[in-house]
Amino acid sequence: MPQYQVATPQRTYSALIERSAITGLKGFIPSGCGRIFVVTTRDVWDLQGDRLRAALGGTAFEVLFFAGGEANKRISEVEQLAVQMVEAGADRSSLLIAFGGGIVTDITGFLAAIFMRGIPVIQIPTTLLAQVDAAIGGKTGVNLTVGKNLAGSFHQPLVVLIDPAVLGTLPEREYRAGLYEVIKAGIIVDAPLFRLFAERRTEVLAQVPEVVDHLIAEAVRIKAEVVSADEKESGLRRILNFGHTFGHALEAETRYTRFLHGEAVSWGMRAATYLADGLGMLPETDRAEILSVLDNYGPIPPLDGIPVASLQALLLHDKKTIQQRIHFVLPVKIGQVKVVADVPETRVQRAIERALADCQNV
Ligand code: GLY
Repeated sequence: MPQYQVATPQRTYSALIERSAITGLKGFIPSGCGRIFVVTTRDVWDLQGDRLRAALGGTAFEVLFFAGGEANKRISEVEQLAVQMVEAGADRSSLLIAFGGGIVTDITGFLAAIFMRGIPVIQIPTTLLAQVDAAIGGKTGVNLTVGKNLAGSFHQPLVVLIDPAVLGTLPEREYRAGLYEVIKAGIIVDAPLFRLFAERRTEVLAQVPEVVDHLIAEAVRIKAEVVSADEKESGLRRILNFGHTFGHALEAETRYTRFLHGEAVSWGMRAATYLADGLGMLPETDRAEILSVLDNYGPIPPLDGIPVASLQALLLHDKKTIQQRIHFVLPVKIGQVKVVADVPETRVQRAIERALADCQNV
C-alpha cells in the first residue's frame, strides 16, 4: 500500500492509498472518542455510504448532509452543521469524518478547526480531485462572494484514507476535473508525471486501475513532500497554486456555479502558461506541450462573455496578493515553476485574452 507521511508542526499523519483503504477506518478512531459525525452529500452517501457504514461496523455515528456545490461552501453552512452537532450532543471529544469531494473535505475540515475551538477530523476523499489534492495538507475553508477560500484555517487531519475504488461511481466530468490537479503536479515538479498524460492518454481516460492508482500515488507523494516542507505556505507551498490564481478569479467571477474547481484550474494553468510565454520565461516547445495536454483532456465549459477586466480585478483578492502585489506561479519549463511578482498589467491582460480566446464556444 503506498503511504506517504505528511509531517507538519501541527501533526504528522499518513495519506494511505489502497483499493479498500476505507476498511481500515476504525483503527484511526482515537481512544476515548465521543460522538462521531460523518459529513457527506446525499449523492455520495447513496452511492458509497455502504462502504463507510461497513467500515465503521458496530460503531455509532451520525450523518450530517451538506447540500454540496461550490456555491454552498459558505460560513452559513458551517454554522448550520455546527448547530446540528450541538443538538446531537457533540462535545470536545467528538470526531468528524469528511466523506466526499473537495468541497466536503474543505468545509468539514473547517468545521473541525473551529468547533469548540478544534476537534479531530479524518479525511476520506471520494473524488479524484480531493484524493490528489484537497484532502491532504490541512487547508480548510469556505468561499466568500469576493473570492475563493478566503475564510479558513490550517487544520491537519488524523489520517487521509484514499480508496481509488470509490471513483467507480464518479461522473466522467468530475474525473477529468481531478486529472487537471495531477497535470498541475507534473508541471510544477515532475516532468515524467506530466509526460505520462501525453503518452498514456487512452488509458488515463479509460481509468485503467493501474494507471489511476499510479497517478494518485504520484500526486499524493508530491503534495506530501511540499506540505511537509512548508505547511503554512510561507514559501514552497505556493507552487501548488499554479493555475489557481487565475482559476480562483474565474470561479468567483462565475459565482462558483459554472466550473468545477479542476476545470477552473485548467483554464488558470492556460492563462499562467501564456503569461510565462509573454514574459519570455518559457521555451516555446514547453508552452506547446502544456497547452496540448490541457486541450487533450478538455474541453472545459466555454468561457464566453467573461470580461477580462473583471477577472483582472479579482486577481487582487488572491491570497498570494500582498499589499496589492499579485504573485503568479509561472512555469519556466515542464517540471519547474517560479513565483513572480510585479508583472505589468498589460501582460496579465494579454494572457487572459489569449486563454479566453482558446475556450470560446465556436
Ligand atoms: N491546493 C493547494 C494547497 O493545498 O496548497
